[in-house]
Amino acid sequence: MCGIFAYVGEEQAAPILMEGLSALEYRGYDSAGLCVGGRCVRSVGAVEQLRARLGDTMLAGKSGIAHLRWATHGEPSEQNAHPHADCGQHVFVVHNGIIENFRELREKLAAAGHRFASETDSEVLARLIEAHRRAGADLEQAVCLALKDVRGTYGLAVSCAEEPGTIIAARMGAPIVVGMGERAHFVASDPSPILAHTKHVLYLEDGEVAVLTAKAHRVFSLDGTKVSRDVETIEWGVEQIQKSGFDHFMLKEIMEEPDVIENTIRGRLIPGQGRAKLGGLDSVAERLAKVKRIVVVGCGTAFYAGQVGEYMLEEFAGIPVEVEVGSEFRYRTPILEEGTMLLAISQSGETADTLEAIREAKRQGALTIGIVNTVGSTIARETDAGIYNHAGPEIGVASTKAFISQLTALALLTLFLGRQRTMSEAVGKRIANELLALPLKLEHILLQHDELCALALRYKDARDFLYIGRKYNYATAFEGALKLKEVSYLHAEGCGAGEMKHGPLAMIDKNFPTFAIALQDSVYEKMRSNIQEIKARRGPVVALATEGDTGLADLADDVVFVPPTLEMLSPILAVVPLQLFAYYISVARGLNVDRPRNLAKSVTVE
Ligand code: G6P
Repeated sequence: MCGIFAYVGEEQAAPILMEGLSALEYRGYDSAGLCVGGRCVRSVGAVEQLRARLGDTMLAGKSGIAHLRWATHGEPSEQNAHPHADCGQHVFVVHNGIIENFRELREKLAAAGHRFASETDSEVLARLIEAHRRAGADLEQAVCLALKDVRGTYGLAVSCAEEPGTIIAARMGAPIVVGMGERAHFVASDPSPILAHTKHVLYLEDGEVAVLTAKAHRVFSLDGTKVSRDVETIEWGVEQIQKSGFDHFMLKEIMEEPDVIENTIRGRLIPGQGRAKLGGLDSVAERLAKVKRIVVVGCGTAFYAGQVGEYMLEEFAGIPVEVEVGSEFRYRTPILEEGTMLLAISQSGETADTLEAIREAKRQGALTIGIVNTVGSTIARETDAGIYNHAGPEIGVASTKAFISQLTALALLTLFLGRQRTMSEAVGKRIANELLALPLKLEHILLQHDELCALALRYKDARDFLYIGRKYNYATAFEGALKLKEVSYLHAEGCGAGEMKHGPLAMIDKNFPTFAIALQDSVYEKMRSNIQEIKARRGPVVALATEGDTGLADLADDVVFVPPTLEMLSPILAVVPLQLFAYYISVARGLNVDRPRNLAKSVTVE
């Protein structure tokens, strides 16, 4: 959410910054801007609009800062676009996060004669730095003093027209990664824009500041203590953040799903013993054996993955599980008695609400583990242990392959915890073998993309959509609806099929189609009855059925098939047609599939 990129080195900065912004675009696209050599260019919209605005403007200079905005305070306008400057246009700031006390600071600064050009909270940062410089501080001191004045969250980069060879970056609650190039340094919200230049990075921790020149870097905490941090190597290749011939990242990422499962399970199964080997949990294995209750926290798609995990873990590991969205967990009074473990699920590893839930759990002394895709992210670092998804970078704002990998990781965790408890070897072997069989089954589903495209064309003009499922595919229904909402802007609702009769059924008529997940599992007959209830109200039904099930063709208007698998793993297959359906509806409606309006990939504000 909001993307920051900065460069200091020996090349011209503007082209590097523009290329970096393109790689970061999934973080925000309400407005974009950059500042090089003390000159700013900003525009509403995303990188293309900024490029058009730049036109032939030469921004000469070997360092600069750039930003993509996801609006929080103030509408998406050029005035509110970053970088923000001080009154004298000397100091420039790009910021991701929220300055909570900005009103009070703004009033104080205005009373002291500062004139504000935007409605943003971020502008106070530039003005505060200016105020401290006027009072005699040098740039570095002024940045540190300003950061002590603010309350809230920030990941930021600062440049100063009078010190063109220096960029200062700082972090409090919003991610900052520093790229360590040869005679160059980079600052970014995540590694994607850095990868084209270097794979060597260091991650700032909260309360840390980095002062960067082309040849040197210094990291220290706000109180001035020097910090020495290991340089890490990013595993991702630059090709993973390119579309590689696909029209959209969303389609590319769905097509990668068979590989994603392979990558998530690689080296982690001992099929002959029906066990999972999870190196990331070794250090806490003994504590895991004693866990009596699990609280799962996630947001959006990760939350729905958690709901599937609840069913897996309760049925096969025998551990009571509750699942909650991060934004609610931390605002009630969660009681995490001894033996409770918090399991955080997050693709980005940066979602503020999930992160705060982890911090609350840690305050209460609970064991925290993560299922995280982004290596080195804040959640990965702050949890006690965890499982990396290994899904590779996900760029499309609507999560697809990450969901598949989250479910796969949850199945591995279930196997791990189940075998620590009462799960038999035979059951363990069955789960392990079926996990190994999933990639081929998934490939088989993906071959149906033309049929799903045709189906989408038939339904693209519907205004509303209901998605229903039960048991393991209860959450799949909600995830299917979320996909459609995100990328098509259609009204879509997920509903437990058994709950329809308590309200949602009232909406059904001949113009209100339902996607019913009706696989041949333990709730099949119940799902058939629910489909009948909809048909009796003339609602069109698309059924998702198990291959070989000929019984649904008479009942439903359209049927999509997926191969049979274990019930606990069935969401991994069932969600794929729902993802493709949403994708093709979005394409048919001519929308921006990868960057849906108003959304952002990594939500680092609460
Ligand atoms: C945003 C994204 C969703 C994602 C959610 C949680 O809303 O658009 O796709 O599911 O954040 O993100 P996380 O990175 O924690 O999985």
